[in-house]
Amino acid sequence: MLRMFTLIIVVLFIGTGRALAVPPGKSIEFKYSPMGTVKFDGDVHKKAAASCKECHNDGMFPKMKQGTVKISMEQIYAGKLCGFCHNGKKAFEAKANCQRCHTPPKK
Ligand code: HEC
Ligand code: HEC
Ligand code: HEC
Repeated sequence: MLRMFTLIIVVLFIGTGRALAVPPGKSIEFKYSPMGTVKFDGDVHKKAAASCKECHNDGMFPKMKQGTVKISMEQIYAGKLCGFCHNGKKAFEAKANCQRCHTPPKK
């Protein structure tokens, strides 16, 4: 019984560790583009924004969960989602820098 309890607590702890993941020390990968995988680095972006809300808000990425928002280049070029910053002002521009986000698939 005690062991069972310990196990549950350990699992809960690991669970929370994962839940606080994307910010520092973690990255997520978006894999659906034919241009290649996009790696989104939590460390780089923690420095890029003053608070989580700059990205986790209703107009952008409301949920702290991967895969809840469908990202297209059309939106990025229009200054939405990643394009809110990747517009050549706050961060490098999307149009001229495909390879800074997309790693082309290996042949
Ligand atoms: C520069 C933008 C940006 C900032 C700042 C940001 N996030 Fe995120 N975060 C994202 C995006 C994009 C996703 C993926 C959303 C999706 O795919 O729907 C995400 C996903 C997550 C996830 C889910 C990760 C997973 O593996 O499913 C967590 C947890 C998270 N963010 C926590 C945070 C916390 C806590 C902060 C503040 C310290 C933060 N984020 C700041 C953009 C950001
Ligand atoms: C809050 C502003 C902001 C948002 C939103 C944002 N970024 Fe960034 N991103 C930055 C800044 C600032 C840098 C640092 C590079 C620079 O200054 O141009 C950066 C760097 C990067 C890099 C280069 C990382 C490296 O190690 O060289 C990639 C790739 C990237 N972002 C992808 C994304 C993707 C994909 C999204 C959307 C899911 C996104 N970013 C949304 C601000 C942002
Ligand atoms: C700021 C980072 C960033 C830059 C720069 C960028 N992309 Fe993307 N792109 C993304 C993300 C994120 C997705 C969504 C991928 C997913 O959902 O798995 C995406 C998706 C795509 C897609 C599939 C969806 C669609 O809209 O058709 C294509 C094609 C694409 N990118 C082409 C390009 C080309 C071409 C360039 C350069 C002119 C470029 N990308 C520059 C982040 C970027």
